[in-house]
Amino acid sequence: MTTALVTGSSGFIGYFVCRALLDEGWQVVGVDSMNDYYDVNLKQARLDRLTPSAEFTQTKATIETPGLLLDLFDRYRPDVVVHLAAQAGVRYSIENPAAYFEANLGGTFQLLEAARAHPPRHMVMASSSSAYGANTQMPYHENMKADHQMSLYAATKKATENIAHSYAHLFGLPITMFRFFTVYGPWGRPDMAPHKFTSAILEGREISVYNHGDMRRDFTYIADLVQAVRLLVDAVPNHTTQHGSIAGDSLSPVAPFRVVNIGNSDTVPLLDFIAAIEEATGKTAKQKLMPMQPGDVPATWADASLLKALTGYVPQTDVASGVAQFVAWYREYYKI
Ligand SMILES: NC(=O)c1ccc[n+]([C@@H]2O[C@H](COP(=O)([O-])OP(=O)(O)OC[C@H]3O[C@@H](n4cnc5c(N)ncnc54)[C@H](O)[C@@H]3O)[C@@H](O)[C@H]2O)c1
Repeated sequence: MTTALVTGSSGFIGYFVCRALLDEGWQVVGVDSMNDYYDVNLKQARLDRLTPSAEFTQTKATIETPGLLLDLFDRYRPDVVVHLAAQAGVRYSIENPAAYFEANLGGTFQLLEAARAHPPRHMVMASSSSAYGANTQMPYHENMKADHQMSLYAATKKATENIAHSYAHLFGLPITMFRFFTVYGPWGRPDMAPHKFTSAILEGREISVYNHGDMRRDFTYIADLVQAVRLLVDAVPNHTTQHGSIAGDSLSPVAPFRVVNIGNSDTVPLLDFIAAIEEATGKTAKQKLMPMQPGDVPATWADASLLKALTGYVPQTDVASGVAQFVAWYREYYKI
């Protein structure tokens, strides 16, 4: 049986990844701190849907705890690692910067050290589209320079890419870093715009629309993202055999390491996304136009051709249908 260690297993993306691996008959070893950055009940509700599976276990702990991950590696010898635990959120990194150092840098360091002791077949880890920072050339391609991060969150994500590359090089650990683009869908994060907008619109409250609405995002529907993650788990990087075989590959010349965008390859105006929520809820948003938020970027747009070249997969879900599925879940879950 294949064993996966999934960090952040009660998180939005982690929950769906665990579900997909369990459905395939894998053993899944989860670890999650269940911290209260957002509603812990939502994390618990996701976890409650995983625990009935006999092949699922979860440890409640912070991944930066020294020795914790090494113990889990000693015990379970995971074939695959899916590293999703992190302090997420651009805006909160201004309020609580220490959380980003501890979870994103300290936690990833502990994970890589544990993997050095018991190398898995493949480690896949979450980075972020925010790693592209001040880059204005669109769509974002993995080989573009990404040196000017605009928030500490983005900086820790870019730094984990660099740290992971060094471990891949020094210790031969095969690692794929995912640059995720604004993921949304059922069981999504309450700190993100789709969730905040939907709750405010349904309750008749004002929504804050930043940069006076002049924002665009490449919105990625959760089911598409999880399918891409699953397929990329099998696309193990090997710089000695694969170098030069894919045009535009981000494969390192000196390590089994690559970076892959996971996005819809579509840049949707924020106002269109709000209109999709209005359509799905049957209610009109009360918009409060606000200036740009510090640390944020006005637009994101993924070039997802490397994802397609590696897996044959192209994300499918457009905003109208993704938002409709999100709003249906929201109404049922929150009984509104
Ligand atoms: N959702 C998105 O749009 C998006 C976009 C880009 C990147 N990402 C990245 O994808 C990953 C998953 O994101 P998500 O949206 O599922 O977020 P999430 O916050 O729902 O999930 C992260 C989980 O990790 C746990 N966690 C946080 N710090 C921890 C620590 N130190 N030790 C153990 N557990 C810890 C949290 O309790 C949470 O359950 C993160 O690395 C995030 O930065 C997400």
